[in-house]
Amino acid sequence: MTTTQDDSQKLLCLSSQHYPMEKILVIGAFGQLGTELTISLREKFGTDQVIASDLNEGRGDVMDGPFEQLNIMDDAAYQTVLKKHDITQVYHLAAILSAKGENDPLFAWRLNMDSLLRVLESGKDQVKKIYWPSSIAVFGPDTPSKLTPQTTIMNPTTVYGISKLAGERWCEYYHQKYAVDVRSVRYPGLIGYKSKPGGGTTDYAVDIYWKAVEGSNFECYLKPDMMLPMMYMDDAVRGTIEIMEAVSDSIKVRSSYNLTGVNFRPDELYKSIIPYYPDFKISYAPDFRQEIAKSWPRSIDDGRARTDWGWHPKYDLTKMTETMIAGLKSMLIEQ
Ligand code: NAD
Ligand code: SER
Repeated sequence: MTTTQDDSQKLLCLSSQHYPMEKILVIGAFGQLGTELTISLREKFGTDQVIASDLNEGRGDVMDGPFEQLNIMDDAAYQTVLKKHDITQVYHLAAILSAKGENDPLFAWRLNMDSLLRVLESGKDQVKKIYWPSSIAVFGPDTPSKLTPQTTIMNPTTVYGISKLAGERWCEYYHQKYAVDVRSVRYPGLIGYKSKPGGGTTDYAVDIYWKAVEGSNFECYLKPDMMLPMMYMDDAVRGTIEIMEAVSDSIKVRSSYNLTGVNFRPDELYKSIIPYYPDFKISYAPDFRQEIAKSWPRSIDDGRARTDWGWHPKYDLTKMTETMIAGLKSMLIEQ
């Protein structure tokens, strides 16, 4: 049987219906995660297919592509950006994190919740797929702290954790009630060198590398034995794109998946840096963030993510320290 020109046209139409050209909006693109995720999404989908957005223009590689100045609290502005770019997927990263949220809890609640509901609403019509991150902050002091299960007692104590837990419930609700294809993971503390973190309890694990490479000493606001789940940024970005690319039926958890990378204490992190900077010194002055950290898990069971969509972390503490120090050194030399 020979294929006519008409048949070829039909096949082309069918395949473009099946795999439509994705147009992706990243909200909060100049944050710690957004900076790296936007670049990876552009490598995968093409620069012009990924629109970076944030409150203000930023600097660096993210500006080498389309950008929209967008306050996600402004509904009209969000609708305009969706229509202007025919957006099909949204990665909604804008949020107030755990430590900063405690300074103004009502503002953190409004931003974290209202923005999520706005994005979920857009998933009822134009937007076909939504990514929204949750956090280990959904857990609290009543949660089993070792190998914390996917489904367990939560009872978070920070406004950030409360907003993430409520957000998870909304994601599942929109999926069940309106078939919105929303996907989420509960990140542990994220560690990367390309941008500084924005107000989390786990930020010490980024700041310590900056201090070591700059030749200063480091004062840690957590106790030396405060073990927490963490993840190197490349793992986080890869996991995010993997869950978004997975076949919809394989995503069985529509609240948010537990995800694990590497668990360590401040004194263990410090020891991993010493071979590179033998004179580097650490001191400890625990503040309110120690209490927040204590309420979170020590380690996480991410078996569901492994089974459902094949999650597997690649970075341990040694590899992370080697990569962080090399990356920071080359970045500081370039500046
Ligand atoms: P970040 O604070 O570094 O970045 C947030 C970005 O959102 C900033 O660039 C900020 O300008 C932008 N933003 C704030 N308000 C906005 C608004 N009204 N409109 C548009 N943009 C706005 O945060 P991050 O570390 O990149 O975290 C990204 C997401 O991942 C958040 O939802 C956070 O809760 C989640 N998360 C992060 C971590 C972590 O360790 N970094 C861990 C767990 C979950
Ligand atoms: N790393 C984040 C924080 O400390 C957890 O979501 O707030």
